[in-house]
Amino acid sequence: MGYKYSKNIEEEIRKYFGVKHVFLVSSGKAALAMILLVLKSLSHKKEVIIPAYTCFSVPSAILKAGLKVSLCDINPSAFDLDYNLLKKTINKDTLCVIPNHLFGIPSDMERIKEICRSKDIFIVEDAAQAMGGHYNGKKLGTLGDVGFFSLGRGKNITCGSGGIIVTNSDKIGNAIARKYDKLEYQSVAEDVKELLQILLLAIFIHPALYWFPAGLPFLKLGQTTFYKDFPMKKLSGMKAGLLHGWQERLEKANQIRKENAKYLYKRLRSRLRLSNGNAQSPSPLAGEGRSLPPRYLSGGEGVYLRLPVLINNREIRDKIFALSNKKGLGMSFMYPAPINEIEEIKNQFNGRTFPSAKKVSERLLTIPTHHLLSERDKERISSLFLEG
Ligand SMILES: Cc1ncc(COP(=O)(O)O)c(C=O)c1O
Repeated sequence: MGYKYSKNIEEEIRKYFGVKHVFLVSSGKAALAMILLVLKSLSHKKEVIIPAYTCFSVPSAILKAGLKVSLCDINPSAFDLDYNLLKKTINKDTLCVIPNHLFGIPSDMERIKEICRSKDIFIVEDAAQAMGGHYNGKKLGTLGDVGFFSLGRGKNITCGSGGIIVTNSDKIGNAIARKYDKLEYQSVAEDVKELLQILLLAIFIHPALYWFPAGLPFLKLGQTTFYKDFPMKKLSGMKAGLLHGWQERLEKANQIRKENAKYLYKRLRSRLRLSNGNAQSPSPLAGEGRSLPPRYLSGGEGVYLRLPVLINNREIRDKIFALSNKKGLGMSFMYPAPINEIEEIKNQFNGRTFPSAKKVSERLLTIPTHHLLSERDKERISSLFLEG
């Protein structure tokens, strides 16, 4: 029964993304670890280049696969790799590069292909936050050699936790299939535990009630953890069942996120412009203090899982965040530090620093864009930027 659900969902994903190979696994990090184990088996190279500002699960998957993390600083206004630095970071031992479409904003895939082409370097698209987004009309996750999505909480669609691998490469797809066949399914006990967590969140995800699940430590909401170890399993049949109707849900959720992001972006811009123009009561944010990613103004291909805003000053950022917490408006910092500062692995980077990743970790605020934001929530969120 469960097996049949999984096969149906796989088939739907294959069609929707126009890919030959699809695998459903227990999490996004399990998907990445699986991909990397396979790439490792196809090459003698060992280094994996990632943005110095990304999800902590990314380096943990690299270490789980027995490979080496190599960091590249980012372009802070695009939340993308700094491509000039990428060229310098690549060396003879570079196995692959992992661009990450953070917040659902597409990385510059043309640029990255141009750099990696002819160097025999795989491109693994981390589309964990970008399911359903596009780049030049093509679906994110399908532009590199292999890609993955996360089905974790707060993602474009969710079944509590889960991951999807997609590829058009037979070489990679067949090698993954051989490993995938040997994985176990998640157990019924794991399923039941997750189902309860999903129910709790479904009831309390509303901004005004969010304080309740946020106060339950076992849900680990808003926390960024470096996982030393995590299971690599097949997604259970029950979870695959929870994905029933996923295409419609994904498109609807992404549409709302895009509209909310666009609306909030406009509101923030006009508020900030207003405050700039008012010399009598200058906002702490007046001046050159803020930047929003320029791509919000054009394209419209991203899915804006959250709206990122860079604040010029850490204290103001922290103040707005504290106010948001007090009012239950759901803003977050995203990742608290650049990857080179993760306690468990920092000795691997020989004291190297990544200034743009550091700056973003200190000044970023992300605003929720999900379907439960009411007009009033959006108004209160925009107001916070004046109060801060
Ligand atoms: C950019 C990025 N990569 C990878 C992951 C890992 O996905 P998961 O949480 O499903 O293991 C996440 C999820 O938070 C993510 O945001």
